Amino acid sequence: MNLDFDAAIFKRRREALIKRMLPGVAIFPAAPEYLRNGDVHHDYRQHSDFYYLTGFEEAGALALIIKEHGEHSFVLFVPKRDKMMEIWNGRRAGPEGAIKKFGADAAFTLEEIESKVPEYLRNVQRMYVHLGDETHFDERVTGWLNRVRAMKRQGFNAPTELHDPSEIVHEMRLHKSKDDLRYLRRACEITSEGHNAGMRATRPGMFEYEVQAEIEHVFRKQGSRRNGYGSIVAGGDNANILHYHENNMQLNDGDLLLVDAGTEFGMYTADITRTWPVNGKFSEAQAEVYNWVLKAQLAAIDACRPGKTFRDPHNIAVEVLTEGMVAMGLLTGNPADIIATQAQWDEDVKNKVKNPANDEAPRTYREFYMHNTGHWLGMDVHDVGRYKDGDAWLPLKPGCVLTVEPGLYIAKDRDDVPEKYRGIGVRIEDDVLVTEGDPDVLTRDAVKTVEDIEALMAEAMAKA
Ligand code: GLY
Ligand code: MN
Ligand code: MN
Repeated sequence: MNLDFDAAIFKRRREALIKRMLPGVAIFPAAPEYLRNGDVHHDYRQHSDFYYLTGFEEAGALALIIKEHGEHSFVLFVPKRDKMMEIWNGRRAGPEGAIKKFGADAAFTLEEIESKVPEYLRNVQRMYVHLGDETHFDERVTGWLNRVRAMKRQGFNAPTELHDPSEIVHEMRLHKSKDDLRYLRRACEITSEGHNAGMRATRPGMFEYEVQAEIEHVFRKQGSRRNGYGSIVAGGDNANILHYHENNMQLNDGDLLLVDAGTEFGMYTADITRTWPVNGKFSEAQAEVYNWVLKAQLAAIDACRPGKTFRDPHNIAVEVLTEGMVAMGLLTGNPADIIATQAQWDEDVKNKVKNPANDEAPRTYREFYMHNTGHWLGMDVHDVGRYKDGDAWLPLKPGCVLTVEPGLYIAKDRDDVPEKYRGIGVRIEDDVLVTEGDPDVLTRDAVKTVEDIEALMAEAMAKA
């Protein structure tokens, strides 16, 4: 399969956007560059909406997508060709490349933005622009508007309606097309391979960052330029810190290692978590906790179907996990009652009947499972797209991709639970495509059962 740059993909998306727009001009800025220190910038990554519609990766650019005004429907403003700048900072497409490679109907340099954008806005009723992310950009938009308003006596009217294009673009991004899935599937394959390599390489005494290097080595070797988020490589009790990022502890024989790492391919990211034993063999207590999480995950994955809502996989995972918590003696009581108690507390907090700052929260599954079971996945790890329409959770539709990532977190200092479980943190996360039929687990290649993980690690250790 050819996964090289393909201008036709971006053209299809612009056409789809134009179809959904009312006549008007949509403005999309490239992601800004951020200084790290001195003249060194943080690694640059294009804004996902901008890339989705243009395929263009240079900073500073601006795109206009126009419906039924004038002769152009796609205009790009791009850094101008500059021999010296290109020697120092990299190649530029320039306006010529913007037309030839990226399919713009017209292209200009960044220096021409201030004069040309107001021209494109003359006699346009609707302007589509997302405000509020960057004050500097918001001010520029106001400037362009005021420039057109100043042309009134020359007979030009300025836009009077402001729309946020995110509503349309994010709805488009939520429903993955064949084009999206080509890249997302590959990101998931590469990430699965990386996790398997991490399992094979792990040994007691290694540092968390060494395992990270083994995993990310596979990501890079398989053609991924960057990760979708900072890798979490958490040995032992570190797994109970949900967003652990130090990744600098030495791994202990007998501990588990939780790895949450996902890499990008073609600007789409995977998001996988696997938890495996540092020495290759789960203890009985570790396997017990692991298998409850796995049972919850498989049940939740099975709920990723049309006819279900975004919330159903979470509710099912909570049911299984709570049953597990009671079976293991982490909680006492009837699982259904425990879940109902938590629901009542949430309702009371929402209605301000209870205040978490003053009132004591009930002891429920939330003590050991404190996050949600998933999120949309795509170009951004916590991808765009709404979760609710009014009060109703969104129905799952073919083409939606979500993560399914239940966990159990039993911190080392929990002296109120059986000792054998203390310090165990487990999360299992896969990326699931909703289809007309069964859920398509895009990350199925990452080894997952206790038996398969132990077999993979034993085989690697025997070879070493
Ligand atoms: N890796 C971030 C998450 O799982 O949501
Ligand atoms: Mn996730
Ligand atoms: Mn994750």
